[in-house]
Amino acid sequence: MTTTRDIRESGEDPITMLTAYDAPTAEVVEAAGVDVILVGDSMGNAVLGHDSTLPVTVDEVQSRTAAVARATTEPLVVADMPFLSFGVSETDSVENAGQMLKQADADAVKLECGPHTVETTERLVELGIPVMAHLGLTPQHVNQLGGYHRQGTDSDAAAELLELAEAHEAAGAFSLVLEHVPANLAADVTAALEIPTIGIGAGPETDGQVLVITDVLGLSERTPPFAAEFGDVREEMTTAVESFREAVEDGSFPAEEHSHYESDVGDVY
Ligand code: KIV
Repeated sequence: MTTTRDIRESGEDPITMLTAYDAPTAEVVEAAGVDVILVGDSMGNAVLGHDSTLPVTVDEVQSRTAAVARATTEPLVVADMPFLSFGVSETDSVENAGQMLKQADADAVKLECGPHTVETTERLVELGIPVMAHLGLTPQHVNQLGGYHRQGTDSDAAAELLELAEAHEAAGAFSLVLEHVPANLAADVTAALEIPTIGIGAGPETDGQVLVITDVLGLSERTPPFAAEFGDVREEMTTAVESFREAVEDGSFPAEEHSHYESDVGDVY
C-alpha cells in the first residue's frame, strides 16, 4: 500500500501517476504498477461530456473515488477537489475534503492552488487530510486565464509560482503537481522544494509524471499538446462495437454457446 509518506520520500525513483474514474480502469492502472491514481476533476471533460472541469460536483468525485478505492489496494488514491468545493469557507473545505477520506476512502486530496489555498492546506493537513498541491495551469481558473495557456512564462509569473510552491510546502502539502509550465521553471521549482513535484506538460526534470488516462489510452477526442497517446483504445472500441452490431444483424450472435435451452420448459403458447 503506497502512502503519502512513501510519495513524499520517494527519492530517485520517478513517481508515476495516472487518472482513473472507474473500477475496471483503476484495476488496469494498479496492475501496471502505477504509484498514484488521481480521481481527477478532468473527469468533466474526459468522461462526463462537459467542455470544462467546472461543472464537476463533490458527489461525482466522491462516488468515482469510492469506485477506484474499492478496486485497488496498492496505489495511493487521490481525490481531486472540484471547483468551489474548497477555499470559499474553511468549514466547507474541511467538510468536502473530509468526505473524500471518510466516505470515499481516498488517501489524500488535491487542490488547484493559489494564494487563497495556503491557509486551507494548513488547516486540512492539521486535521489529518493530506494535500497534494497543484500550480501552473489550473483548469478551474480557465475563465480567469482566458484559456488553457502555458503559465509561468515571464520572470514575475515564474517568481510568483515558486513563492506559492514554497508556501504550500511550508503549509504541509506532501507533493506538488506542476501543469503546463516551462521545463526550466519546473526544474527550478523541483530543485527548490523538499517535497516531490509531479509534472504534466512541465518537462522531464520533475520528480514524477502524470497524464489523463483517456489521453494515454488514445480514447480522448482531443489531447493537449503535452500529452502522449500510448495506445489506440478508441479504435479497439470502435472495432468491438461494430463487430457486435454486425453479429446481431447477421444472426451469428448469440450462438449456441451463449444460449441455454431447458427441456422442462414446455410449449408456453
Ligand atoms: O484533473 C486532473 O486530471 C488533473 C491532472 C491533469 C493533474 O488535475
